[in-house]
Amino acid sequence: MSSRIKFLKEAVKNIKTLGTVTPSSRFLSKRMLREINFSNADVIVELGPGTGAITKYILDNLSPKAILICFEINDNFYQQLHKLEHPQLIILKASAEKIVDELKKLQIHQVNYIISSLPLTIIPDEISSEILERSFEVLEENGNFIQYQYSLSYFRKLKNVYKESISLEFEPLNIPPAFIYRCKKVV
Ligand SMILES: C[S@@+](CC[C@H](N)C(=O)[O-])C[C@H]1O[C@@H](n2cnc3c(N)ncnc32)[C@H](O)[C@@H]1O
Repeated sequence: MSSRIKFLKEAVKNIKTLGTVTPSSRFLSKRMLREINFSNADVIVELGPGTGAITKYILDNLSPKAILICFEINDNFYQQLHKLEHPQLIILKASAEKIVDELKKLQIHQVNYIISSLPLTIIPDEISSEILERSFEVLEENGNFIQYQYSLSYFRKLKNVYKESISLEFEPLNIPPAFIYRCKKVV
């Protein structure tokens, strides 16, 4: 079964945690990653990898010493991601707001990049706030939180955390078209 069909089947059951019916296009996936300096990235975290639409491009670009840690709550996606069988990939069946505790278990206290496709606007407010705050906490200074969204509705909340250090882009070649926020941790 193709990734698209698997994604659609899960979306029918879990639209409130998926937020869409189809995986990200290659155009959106590549745009999400295009400002990452992979040669200097030792630890990258992906929140909500789904069927791995963005994950596979991250893995293609990882430097040999780097690791990618994915947080996914959907059982079927969690199982499917294991088929990627990549030695630098760690897949956690854990919710994104647990990022600090889960990384501590791996002896990791700081990360360089967080790539998120979480449907932040439909996640309950107190949980999405916790995700943003804990992600900020674990990012290194000048580390980046990169998020896509289908509207600008979350801009204000991101600004509360990242202040003026946010840039915005638009990718039309995706269903639906998406905005990309690049948020830098400046302390
Ligand atoms: C819009 S889909 C994105 C999937 C994929 N990254 C893509 O771009 O095609 C959102 C994903 O976030 C996952 N998700 C939702 N809430 C989550 C949470 N609190 N922690 C971790 N993953 C979550 C969903 O199960 C789903 O796989």
